[in-house]
Amino acid sequence: MGILGRFMVGVTKCMPRFFVASVARRYVAGKDLNSAVKVMKKLSSEGACFTIDVLGEEISNLQEAQFFVDEYDRVLDAIVANKLDANLSIKPTAFGLLIDSKAAYKNIERLLVNAAEHDIFVRLDMEDHRVTQSTIDIVLAMHEKGLKNVGTVLQARLFRTSDDIDSICEQLGADADFRICKGVYLEHESISRTGYQEIVDAMNLHIDQILDKGGYAGIASHDMPIINHTLDALSNRKMNPPHSDLEKCRNGKGPGYEFQMLLGVRGNIRRKLSKEGHRTRIYIPYGERWYEYSMRRLDENPDVAMHIVKSIFMPWTNRR
Ligand code: FDA
Repeated sequence: MGILGRFMVGVTKCMPRFFVASVARRYVAGKDLNSAVKVMKKLSSEGACFTIDVLGEEISNLQEAQFFVDEYDRVLDAIVANKLDANLSIKPTAFGLLIDSKAAYKNIERLLVNAAEHDIFVRLDMEDHRVTQSTIDIVLAMHEKGLKNVGTVLQARLFRTSDDIDSICEQLGADADFRICKGVYLEHESISRTGYQEIVDAMNLHIDQILDKGGYAGIASHDMPIINHTLDALSNRKMNPPHSDLEKCRNGKGPGYEFQMLLGVRGNIRRKLSKEGHRTRIYIPYGERWYEYSMRRLDENPDVAMHIVKSIFMPWTNRR
């Protein structure tokens, strides 16, 4: 995949912007909040709930962070005004984490306070290894302050993840709320797994670990071996619908789970899970910076280019 993936990244970067835009339309809800709200209203009929991501991440000065603080406030207002079943996904570096961590804490705290007023949960997306610990530290510090409407993402790719699950569950108890994913950033082999099967195996173990520790597990994957493993794990623990306490799941507190998928990816599987009674959540990215965002994702992980090419030329492998 390596060379082919990199080749596809090169090809994609040479494509005219309008062509990339036509492909991105499937994965990005639009340039502005109104477009994202329209997409969510349309998808509500599929039984899914949402997590909203304002596109953009590492910033070069704190003024740029203010844009995200303000825009996420507008997102909160839109969730309430449109009665959407949605929470937020934010990137701590967009709030200034790599520039001034104290300012980033303040920005994130302010957002959490505003979100808590409407009982809205905020997920800190996990970025690359430079901010793994500091992202987890923000979650722990906010819980200590009594702001419990926040959780993080852990990446099965990283060797440290099993210890992180133990430690977060120990410190937060029933408030521990994870998104577990493979990890999109290709990290160095000294700190991470690099092969497909070992990452899948680790992810499956981490899902079991979270369920056994009584944490809330957002399983973020479109990969069938992971989805099937989760269904078995739920069944073995008698957590399958209709046995699971779905109301508890809705609040994202205590033992529970949901399946999370990206907008435009494997909707057929998501809809099937939803019909079977599982809670499903769609990740809804929107924003002006969709092009830069898409290109950065390609640089970080050329596999993404292959997924996109596959979904264009072999659409049956990846239904909307
Ligand atoms: P895999 O890559 O094997 O994909 C399985 C199939 O799904 C593919 O064959 C293809 O059909 C389809 N597919 C997957 N990704 C696709 C894409 N981008 N475009 C088109 N088709 C695609 N990572 C991270 O480091 N930090 C984070 O905070 C998050 N957050 C996050 C939220 C949500 C809701 C999801 C679904 C994923 C993330 N990720 C993430 C990304 C995650 O770590 C991982 O890189 C991708 O989900 C791809 O891995 P899969 O397990 O889906 O399998």
